[in-house]
Amino acid sequence: MAPSVRAAVAADLAAVLCLYRQLYTERELAETSRVRAAWAATLTTPGRLVLVAETSARLIGTVDLTVLSNVARGGDPYLLVENVVVDEWHRRSGVGALLLDAARRHGRENGCYKLQLSAEEYIGLFGAIEHVHTDDRELIERHLAPLPGPVLDLGCGPGQLTGYLHSLGVEVTGIDPVPEFIEHARATHPGARFEVGSMLELDRPAGSIAGILAWFSLIHLEPALVDDVLATIRRVMRPGGVLVAGFFDGAAVEPFAHKVITAHRWPIDEMARRLVLAGFVVTERLQRARAGESRSSAAVVATAV
Ligand SMILES: C[S@@+](CC[C@H](N)C(=O)[O-])C[C@H]1O[C@@H](n2cnc3c(N)ncnc32)[C@H](O)[C@@H]1O
Repeated sequence: MAPSVRAAVAADLAAVLCLYRQLYTERELAETSRVRAAWAATLTTPGRLVLVAETSARLIGTVDLTVLSNVARGGDPYLLVENVVVDEWHRRSGVGALLLDAARRHGRENGCYKLQLSAEEYIGLFGAIEHVHTDDRELIERHLAPLPGPVLDLGCGPGQLTGYLHSLGVEVTGIDPVPEFIEHARATHPGARFEVGSMLELDRPAGSIAGILAWFSLIHLEPALVDDVLATIRRVMRPGGVLVAGFFDGAAVEPFAHKVITAHRWPIDEMARRLVLAGFVVTERLQRARAGESRSSAAVVATAV
């Protein structure tokens, strides 16, 4: 049965605690009277909503949402997303995306101008290789694993794909501007290399790189900067080098209405056109609807010419 999402009720406490034990493995998280009181307060605090994802059998994910008032934006509130957990047996099946979509809807219904998800929560939702769709993993592996290196994972986030490529023997470096991601990546994938950095200031000699992964990271650039970044990526790559880029597909280049951080959809044809302008030949495309989401995923593979 496909998972569904609903508001948590008092009777869900034991199952929610089971999920939290996966999030905070170092804690016992017993159902004490203090915890029961905190649960009752959580469920009755105005602006607070705990969502649970369930199958017919049991709860398989949860997220804790709070609408926060905000004077700085003329009274427009924002939505804080906390305590995100997807049961370890149900990762890679779209449950995280389903919960995040329901969170976005709740934010929209409450007039929130943004949804705030900490690096820690992002890691919980997407930060393990098990969260990567098998088709995406296969595409990335097929194109980047055979390369002799060096390979860069630009916008590596928590480093799950860098770590995966490293485990396949690729000489890969993950680069991301968020220090919390790099710290997590280094601790989780001790053999791989990671750097805090930005693709806006890519510091590599011309023609030195065999492969680049830009997995859902170009979407965070201002569209006006993308041509320059693709030109820089092309410049640092060897002729014949391979770029694999993943992004959210859409009818036009446009920002998401409700986002974690600023992000844009890119029609796959437009992304392909920009890649050709930057000096690439597009060799493969992938498009897929995302479970429980209105957006679809796209990926292009391009060779530097
Ligand atoms: C949606 S996350 C994807 C992370 C990772 N590639 C994954 O698949 O889970 C987008 C990432 O792009 C990073 N990012 C944003 N701006 C960037 C920039 N200018 N240069 C490099 N990475 C950037 C963000 O910090 C974030 O980690």
